[in-house]
Amino acid sequence: MARETFVQPQKLIYPIFVEEGKNIKTEIEAMPNQYRYSIDRLDEILSKLISLNIGGILLFGIPKHKDEYGSSAWDENGAVQQAVKYIKNNFPELVVITDVCMCEYTSHGHCGILEHNDVHNDKTLEVLAKTALSHARAGADIVAPSDMMDGRIGYIREKLDENGFENTLIMAYSAKYASAFYGPFREAAGSAPAFGDRSSYQMDPANGDEALREIRLDSKEGADILMVKPALAYLDVLYRAKEISDRPVAAYSVSGEYSMIKAAAKSGFIDEKRIIKETALCIFRAGADMLITYYAPEIAQFIKVGEL
Ligand code: PBG
Repeated sequence: MARETFVQPQKLIYPIFVEEGKNIKTEIEAMPNQYRYSIDRLDEILSKLISLNIGGILLFGIPKHKDEYGSSAWDENGAVQQAVKYIKNNFPELVVITDVCMCEYTSHGHCGILEHNDVHNDKTLEVLAKTALSHARAGADIVAPSDMMDGRIGYIREKLDENGFENTLIMAYSAKYASAFYGPFREAAGSAPAFGDRSSYQMDPANGDEALREIRLDSKEGADILMVKPALAYLDVLYRAKEISDRPVAAYSVSGEYSMIKAAAKSGFIDEKRIIKETALCIFRAGADMLITYYAPEIAQFIKVGEL
């Protein structure tokens, strides 16, 4: 009765990697029990999410073709665009969120268009907006720019509105840190930078106030949902973000957080079930309104059987 925090399945978002091609369900080595799927193999996982009342999914695309400009990112026949259409037609209960970024699509693995080996902010804005628009056209409910370019939220909002997508929401990766916790994701999505790192556009883990400035900016530019990422090592940032924000705040418990728990559990060093429950609870206690997590099905299952 005195318990302050409850976790609800509707507040969980499950990330899914969709790969171009047929009959693909490939396990991601560093993330046991997580897969890359082709569209024709998605039914099983989507039905499971619905049976568990999970609120939404976050889609990442794995294209066949990569080039300097990441042109597959806005291809209307691309993996994400096709998957969105398929899911909205066949599983309309799920809120469909799409990751909008270039790193999975560029041959160099950076999150934007390069000029003299540096990501060029304004040229990148244009391709991001094109990509977001193609997701909205396919039927995405929410687009989630994860690139961290300056001014991207306002620019994407404007392009969506101009094209009649006023009702497509934007979830901004506002406080996205340059983090080693993304390591396994880069294997999963084949998006590791070919040279350098992302520290020129992602945030320094040493900074907290800067995250609040990013949150305020994205809010002002029209973001509907703000995000803090990673989650566990940044619960102070999450707490502060929630304190100042008049919009819902999402937390993203990223690939490295998942892999660490999996690996430690496999060695018998920790109790996986208890850790899954505790971490989910703590992220919500810190102020998350929603949680993106690779453990969404397990968490929802615990809720279903009354264990969380
Ligand atoms: C794309 C993107 C990344 C993640 C989400 N969107 C990788 C990165 O910034 O390198 C990481 C998610 C995870 O680790 O689970 N920019």
